[in-house]
Amino acid sequence: MNTMESLIGLVNRIQRACTVLGDYGGGTGNNAFNSLWEALPTVAVVGGQSSGKSSVLESIVGRDFLPRGSGIVTRRPLVLQLHKTDDGTEEYAEFLHLPKRQFTDFAMVRKEIEDETDRITGKSKQISPVPIHLSIFSPNVVNLTLVDLPGLTKVAVEGQPETIVEDIETMVRTYVDKPNCIILAISPANQDIATSDAIKLAKDVDPTGERTFGVLTKLDLMDKGTNALAVLEGRSYKLQHPWVGIVNRSQADINRNVDMMLARRKEREYFDTSPDYGHLANKMGSEYLAKLLSKHLESVIRTRIPSILSLINKSIEELERELDRMGRPIAVDAGAQLYTILEMCRAFDKIFKEHLD
Ligand code: GDP
Ligand code: NA
Ligand code: MG
Repeated sequence: MNTMESLIGLVNRIQRACTVLGDYGGGTGNNAFNSLWEALPTVAVVGGQSSGKSSVLESIVGRDFLPRGSGIVTRRPLVLQLHKTDDGTEEYAEFLHLPKRQFTDFAMVRKEIEDETDRITGKSKQISPVPIHLSIFSPNVVNLTLVDLPGLTKVAVEGQPETIVEDIETMVRTYVDKPNCIILAISPANQDIATSDAIKLAKDVDPTGERTFGVLTKLDLMDKGTNALAVLEGRSYKLQHPWVGIVNRSQADINRNVDMMLARRKEREYFDTSPDYGHLANKMGSEYLAKLLSKHLESVIRTRIPSILSLINKSIEELERELDRMGRPIAVDAGAQLYTILEMCRAFDKIFKEHLD
């Protein structure tokens, strides 16, 4: 791992440890951890229902583990932290609400997301703003925090309260309003871009388009004789970052259990052989999107390092005070957690001073 990767990895782990303490999500407010969380970029996936948000997220991760399908499937925010581990180590997932269990079977991860969603919302079409926190540890990911969100809708369906349309928008906004949030705005290519919920919201919270990545899914489902070049070339709606076109698995693929690697190969083939998009082929697809995002993330973190560093130093002071107040050594969970954060903050400070100062 290079220095930048180690720093981002540490930042990721500090965020996770802060989450364990319950600081993220507006809880205890006024401390350095909250500011620390807000100083670091997260990526939120936004768009209309069934636009392909969960599918895009899965492709970025390179694993099948999210509930997907037609209608309102994602009903609670999923805060997903990817932690890059050393080559050759085994991939596993861990939920914040099940700290003692390591999942190596990703089908079980999907089932747990579904069960945990139902635990709060019941087996209904209701939604809840209470996030599910999941961490994936793998040599094959980039250090990144992603948030999967319920889709924006226009009408309540049977079994949903009338307020659901606003409730979902409010929930999505709590994530995308934050200046540290990178918006993955997902629009399906088989609908007119002028009607895109994702673009509408992104335009509102990020008018200059500097933290919005436009993603166009379902290119394979467009009417014959039409193409999405005007969107992909930025002529329909210009963003600062290039648009990325995607072909995710169809529902039929999902039903047939087409795996991620085959899906990626098919997506690559689609672009390589496409008469419309051939000239853009090397800037299209899920893998390219993942690379684009991690490059962007790295540059954002680079520019934020001075402020992250001063926050980390503030956190170190605060943590030391807190630990003194509790009396060291501390065996209880919270104390151990604070101590872990302190150690990670120190490590960040050290790596920074040795390599980047
Ligand atoms: P979400 O509701 O926005 O999270 O969307 P999902 O990822 O759950 O996808 C909704 C449905 O659309 C699923 O049946 C997917 O298989 C399908 N889907 C998503 N993206 C694509 C795509 O690029 N092509 C095709 N053919 N189907 C897609
Ligand atoms: Na859906
Ligand atoms: Mg979804």
